[in-house]
Amino acid sequence: MSESALKEKIDPARLPSHVAIIMDGNGRWAMQKGHLRMLGHQYGVQAVRNVTEAAAELGVKYVTLYAFSTENWRRPQEEINALMALLVDTIQSETDTLMKNGIRLEAIGNLAQLPTACNKQLQETVEVTKDNDRMTLILALSYSGRWDIIEATRKIARQVKEGLLQPDEIDENVLNSALNTSRYPNPELLIRTSGEQRISNFLLWEIAYAEMHFTPVLWPDFSKDDFYQAILDFQQRDRRFGLTAEQLHS
Ligand code: IPE
Ligand code: IPE
Ligand code: MG
Repeated sequence: MSESALKEKIDPARLPSHVAIIMDGNGRWAMQKGHLRMLGHQYGVQAVRNVTEAAAELGVKYVTLYAFSTENWRRPQEEINALMALLVDTIQSETDTLMKNGIRLEAIGNLAQLPTACNKQLQETVEVTKDNDRMTLILALSYSGRWDIIEATRKIARQVKEGLLQPDEIDENVLNSALNTSRYPNPELLIRTSGEQRISNFLLWEIAYAEMHFTPVLWPDFSKDDFYQAILDFQQRDRRFGLTAEQLHS
């Protein structure tokens, strides 16, 4: 089926407003071809372009990409350095395209842990693209769901200590607004590539009611069609939020 044929099947009135993606399988993609893992990360950049373009064209408002987890700091230093260098280069070289396409870049995670050059380039592009409003592309960098929940808990504890908040006033809204993701709606669709079916400490709180789409496709091979397929899969789900099917469809 051609790209447009799949795209045409998508109901524009029932798009997820936020899609989160665990971009996995770069290393395996490279190894299968007899290359070093790093080549997989380099080719993964094209998949990021595919998804960003496809999502913006469809009218998805937020895309969050899991680019580097808290746990990924335990990888070989050589791979970490190469990934950080790739990040700087990519953010820099893609800034023009982000501007052309009206895309705002934002980041979540423990950004202070990133190498200075990386953090600087990130801040620069975030600043340059901040008034774009067609779509927001959020990079999760040095991020994990548990890290964010712990950070949020600390913030709330400080507010309680200072007498700004009563323990009984802590509810979903209070926790939501203390998270790195407070500015975004919760993702309705979570995609993970490479055949793994786990969350790996991604948006733990935020995906409470997200639909999951797992695909065996390795990230560097992820195409616009694969993205459309994930959206179509999402649109076939019955999202019940604890209610009965009869309640929902009456
Ligand atoms: C995902 O690909 C990218 C990052 C985690 C940075 P991997 O590097 O995890 O690829 P595999 O899972 O080893 O194939
Ligand atoms: C998850 O992938 C993190 C990112 C995609 C950035 P990993 O490859 O690190 O996850 P595990 O180790 O297979 O769970
Ligand atoms: Mg992996």
